[in-house]
Amino acid sequence: MLYEGKAKKIYSTDKPEIIRVEYKDSATAFNGVKKDSIEGKGKLNNLFTSFFFELLSEKGIENHFEGKISETEHLAKKVSIIPLEVIVRNKAAGTLAKRIGKEEGFPMPFPIIELCYKNDDLGDPMLNDDHIFALNLASPDELKQIKEKALRVNTLLQDFFLGHGLELIDFKLEFGKTTEGTILLADEISPDTCRIWDAVTGQKLDKDVFRRDLAPLAETYHSLAVRIGILKNEA
Ligand code: TMP
Ligand code: ASP
Repeated sequence: MLYEGKAKKIYSTDKPEIIRVEYKDSATAFNGVKKDSIEGKGKLNNLFTSFFFELLSEKGIENHFEGKISETEHLAKKVSIIPLEVIVRNKAAGTLAKRIGKEEGFPMPFPIIELCYKNDDLGDPMLNDDHIFALNLASPDELKQIKEKALRVNTLLQDFFLGHGLELIDFKLEFGKTTEGTILLADEISPDTCRIWDAVTGQKLDKDVFRRDLAPLAETYHSLAVRIGILKNEA
């Protein structure tokens, strides 16, 4: 094992350029303050992530995904993760709704990008471009690429979800760098890292159900997977 995070474990493989990602059944919120073990969560998030990375590859967004190998695991290209949480927001929710004093669901006139320093000890504080350059987290050209890719992912995922009567409110991406210096989309894309609402009722179909004790997480993620057609509706 190379690394264990709150929701995933990363292992080396017999190929130095490939890692194995295993999704755990643990759910955390508020920087690990709230936590629980939820049977089936690992399987569901591996399913979502594998599906979305494949979809994005087909649409021309290069990423680290190298194939699902079991219910809870997929392979990925080894990259060094740039310690930035790249958040894109279409409507205000969560910390943005609080910061600007608007109701959740307040529409933004264009997608808002926020960059946070991926550092649990500091509570993932928001950084501006100058902080990022001063700390050498990314060069101006790399940050430009990251922002452009994040906005393209937003358009593609928004279209996909709208096709299923769902609205992509916001999401978080992470990027990594290969040894050749190529920037690749990495980490995960799942209801842990996105806010997804029913476009008509506004029902929340993401980790906010866990953060705010609104509904059971596994059932919610399962119903989202059925809704977007990646899981059959079985008990
Ligand atoms: P926020 O409103 O709490 O700042 O979250 C914005 C988006 O980022 C939301 O879709 C959830 C996602 N997110 C993560 O993926 N990981 C995190 O650690 C946090 C705080 C948010
Ligand atoms: N991922 C963070 C945590 O585990 C925060 C969140 O998603 O709300 O605490």
